[in-house]
Amino acid sequence: MASDSPRGDIIARTLPGAFPVAQHPPWLQQRLEWFRDQKLGLILHWGPYCQWDCYESWGLVKADSWARLETMRCWVERDRDFERFSRDYRALNRTFDPREFDPAVWAAAAVDAGMRYVCFTTKHHDGFCLWDTATTAYKVTAPDCPHHTHPQADLVRAVFDALRQRGLGISAYFSKSDWHCPWYWSPDFPLRDRHPNYDTAAHPALWAQFQAFVREQIRELLTDYGPIDALWLDGGQVRPPHQDIQMPALAALARSLQPGLLIADRTVGGEFENFITPEQEVLDRALDYPWESCITLGGSWKYMPGKMDYRPARAVIHQLCDIVCKGGNLLLGIGPTPQGTFDSDALARLREIGAWLRVNGAAIYGTRPVAPFRDGDVCYTGGGGLVYATVLHDEVAPSTVALALPPAAGSPVRRLAGPTPLSWRWDGQRALVDLPPAAPTAATVLCYRAAD
Ligand code: GLC
Repeated sequence: MASDSPRGDIIARTLPGAFPVAQHPPWLQQRLEWFRDQKLGLILHWGPYCQWDCYESWGLVKADSWARLETMRCWVERDRDFERFSRDYRALNRTFDPREFDPAVWAAAAVDAGMRYVCFTTKHHDGFCLWDTATTAYKVTAPDCPHHTHPQADLVRAVFDALRQRGLGISAYFSKSDWHCPWYWSPDFPLRDRHPNYDTAAHPALWAQFQAFVREQIRELLTDYGPIDALWLDGGQVRPPHQDIQMPALAALARSLQPGLLIADRTVGGEFENFITPEQEVLDRALDYPWESCITLGGSWKYMPGKMDYRPARAVIHQLCDIVCKGGNLLLGIGPTPQGTFDSDALARLREIGAWLRVNGAAIYGTRPVAPFRDGDVCYTGGGGLVYATVLHDEVAPSTVALALPPAAGSPVRRLAGPTPLSWRWDGQRALVDLPPAAPTAATVLCYRAAD
């Protein structure tokens, strides 16, 4: 089947190099089944950059950023001056003072939205650490960051604790590349692009220092911050041969500290990319390999002051159903505000998503894809011996639904939103179900036993 993704067939692009799940040890296979059950997570991009309406980190990379119109606009507003942009960006930690930060409120919002886990940026590519690391002074607990006096100054601790208290799974976003670390971007050489600004083979001692730095940061995060479910490693350019971070040793260390840890070594392939993470896109067909699409609720990962335009909840619900019927998870991205809150428009969307899931979650959580997966506007999933056919529609459901996967003879069909059993008839190709009028909703779930 041809893909209509502008970047070509996503599975062909991402899956080669994927490690066969059956070759993982049993404990890891079990953890992946747990991961597959969760279906919906939240990814939060946060840091001093939230104060500006530029991209997270990327404005620091001249070569990569020219293509990014928004970042360019940000420079233009600052006199087309890259040096000045970088200097001012690097000073954003000095004004980062989220007075209304309350991670319990974030966790409650995630739970209300039907999220099962949260991925939080412990460190983005810009290198600013949201935990009290001993590896650098470029961190939220340093005296030059006003937030350091807050009772919950160590953001990673506060956020992870709050998530755990609400039973949410924890995924730690960590950028392997670090555009602040002098062993990645050395002050002795001119800056080039997103890569180290020196030849790692020609300067092995420098690179070894960077390896040790990353190792120590990972050690801190996985030692001092309680149980963590997944390590979400961004910055896929950090891979052998030129940027070998010694992943086997790093993973062994990580799992000695956190048995059961899932690792997503994004885009690298191989044993440590336990699940694949398509970005801002959804697979065009079902895939029996663990995957998680990370997709923003609005137009950017981070909060853009005064500029956010969020997708309607209905679009997100449809997307979630589409992903789940193809075997994936949705990791929905929002960025907290400089005050430390969730934007009220984002919160309104999250609430609507949660309200739909409270009624229809049986078709989502813990399910597995069922052929024909997706047929027109109907998404099929299965669990506990039942089939769930989720009909995606506008406000009002169609009056008749055609099911390509027919119910067992004599088996009633029921809506998750209404207890009355519905009758169905066979038209020679599909089972036709008439839906009674119902309150407006984004999607209607029909549940039944399928014919063998
Ligand atoms: C990309 C970007 C990054 C963002 C991430 C989220 O890899 O580099 O800015 O954090 O995707 O998926």
